[in-house]
Amino acid sequence: MIDPTPPVAAGPTVSPPGPRLVDLRSRLHQEVGKVVVGQGDALDALLAALAAGGHVLLEGVPGVAKTLLAATFARALGLEFRRAQFTPDLLPSDLTGTMTLRDRELVFRPGPVFTNVLLADEINRTPPKTQAALLEAMQEQQVTIDGDGHRLPDPFLVVATQNPIEYEGTYPLPEAQLDRFLVKVVVGYPSVADEQALLGLARHGLDLSAADEVRPVISASDIAAARAEVDATMVSADVAGYVSAIVRQTRTLPSVEVGASPRAGVHLLVAAKAAARLGGRAFVTPDDVVRVATMVLRHRLVLRPEAELERFTPEAAIANAIAAVPVPR
Ligand SMILES: Nc1ncnc2c1ncn2[C@@H]1O[C@H](COP(=O)(O)OP(=O)(O)OP(=O)(O)O)[C@@H](O)[C@H]1O
Ligand SMILES: [Mg+2]
Repeated sequence: MIDPTPPVAAGPTVSPPGPRLVDLRSRLHQEVGKVVVGQGDALDALLAALAAGGHVLLEGVPGVAKTLLAATFARALGLEFRRAQFTPDLLPSDLTGTMTLRDRELVFRPGPVFTNVLLADEINRTPPKTQAALLEAMQEQQVTIDGDGHRLPDPFLVVATQNPIEYEGTYPLPEAQLDRFLVKVVVGYPSVADEQALLGLARHGLDLSAADEVRPVISASDIAAARAEVDATMVSADVAGYVSAIVRQTRTLPSVEVGASPRAGVHLLVAAKAAARLGGRAFVTPDDVVRVATMVLRHRLVLRPEAELERFTPEAAIANAIAAVPVPR
């Protein structure tokens, strides 16, 4: 009998040094694209947040694939993933965990927040107490139960979805809590071509199980490398000055009651670094800053009531702030 040729061992793949995020991006788009048609900008924002170590809020009207996109993105990462549906009766302990009796001993039973990627679905349908429990966990990377701190895993990424606040039966997140999200991505209606293409997708009924076809294409070490790459992105003094000038400008606009915080400036800079890497560059340009400014700042500005009445938007305010600041050469 002839021995079959042993399969060639696929030894440890040595990833080439270089544009890590660019490479992750194309893998991710290919995999997620099996299930989600279009929404490429939202996917880029998810990847940028992952590489920057920030959390994402996806906002849009019902049925634009917010949940599908978030679930598919999470599955494309080789990380632990949990989904929590933020219903009106969800309690803080349903999320964070509880102390339970086991063999006459009190032990901590961790809730769904103890995971790498948490899909916090329909976050504005749950009352403020439960929202606050999640946002505390996001802020502190830990949960305190009965005085004991329990660290969350690393990486820890929250992808929250919500409907626009005008929808009924919702509890809008307070601005102070919104400030913890790196970006708010508005998921819009698909283009004509995308709308037709999604109707052509093979689907078994209407369930979300389509996301099950998706395989992990990004590993934990890829993410660590992408984070190191984003960290190492160069920022000139001029560009840093540009970021802070835009942030400060939002505080002086007549339409704005509360402008962007210093934390917003930190977030704007790191998002711009990720955008630079997604563009294949090792340094941030003023264009990178402008490209991410709307999604980083839009959920942090509080407009004056008069401006709101006139249907002025945070996006318009951000555009005004950018227009008022000279671009460094
Ligand atoms: N871009 C798209 N690509 C593929 N399928 C889509 C797309 N947009 C909508 N769909 C279809 O619409 C369904 C609804 O998507 P999903 O439940 O993710 O919406 P949602 O934005 O989370 O809505 P809701 O706010 O009601 O929770 C998907 O399961 C899919 O069948
Ligand atoms: Mg949904």
